[in-house]
Amino acid sequence: MAGIEKPILLDLPVPIRTKRLTLHPLQTGDGAAMFTAISESMAEFAPWLEWASSPQTPETAEETARRFSAEFLLRKHLSFAIFSDARFLGMVALYGFKWNIPSACCGYWLRTSETGKGYMTESVAALSLYAFRHIGLRRLAILCDADNLKSIAVPKRLDFALEATSPMADIHPQTGEPTTELVFVRLNDAGLDDASVSWPA
Ligand SMILES: CC(C)(COP(=O)(O)OP(=O)(O)OC[C@H]1O[C@@H](n2cnc3c(N)ncnc32)[C@H](O)[C@@H]1OP(=O)(O)O)[C@@H](O)C(=O)NCCC(=O)NCCS
Repeated sequence: MAGIEKPILLDLPVPIRTKRLTLHPLQTGDGAAMFTAISESMAEFAPWLEWASSPQTPETAEETARRFSAEFLLRKHLSFAIFSDARFLGMVALYGFKWNIPSACCGYWLRTSETGKGYMTESVAALSLYAFRHIGLRRLAILCDADNLKSIAVPKRLDFALEATSPMADIHPQTGEPTTELVFVRLNDAGLDDASVSWPA
């Protein structure tokens, strides 16, 4: 399997569907729902997500939605909104592509009122299947702060291997202190439950 020379020509059929969820690329108009989801979650996000230390408004959220939409087209980041019916639950994204391998990283957040139901594990499993089977990734990494136990639990549940423990790899968004990063990796989709995951042919 070779690297992907022109990712912009890569067809990305969407949405991705799971048993309970639909993953759509972020698009114009998603800002309002995203803002509502972010607003209820700021306390949970602040220790882990750098952008959550900045004030958020409906306008900044819409700006983000439109930027993500453009970046999806350019195959720079692939950011998906997670919906249960019409309710915006959170986001899951592929970023940090190295198309010549190809490889990427996966990041995510869930609105606080929808945590504890397995939605993120379900979303990351589906996006991993899409990444390996449709895009042809050969490596998918999830980077977690060593203190972010809820985040760490997601790759662990999905049998990502702990590849590295990297001290001084990042900065805590609130304290400004260096943090330790855990690198979880999958090199294939072996064992991921694909029973209810689909995307258009
Ligand atoms: C990281 C984050 C998405 C995890 O959310 P989460 O709800 O714990 O993760 P899931 O949606 O996979 O749900 C797992 C929980 O649901 C429970 N659960 C219920 N039904 C489940 C099911 N069908 N499948 C799996 N888990 C299920 C699990 O037991 C687990 O609960 P526990 O934490 O009490 O053990 C969330 O905490 C978050 O957004 N944090 C802030 C942003 C962040 O840190 N992002 C990551 C940066 S790397």
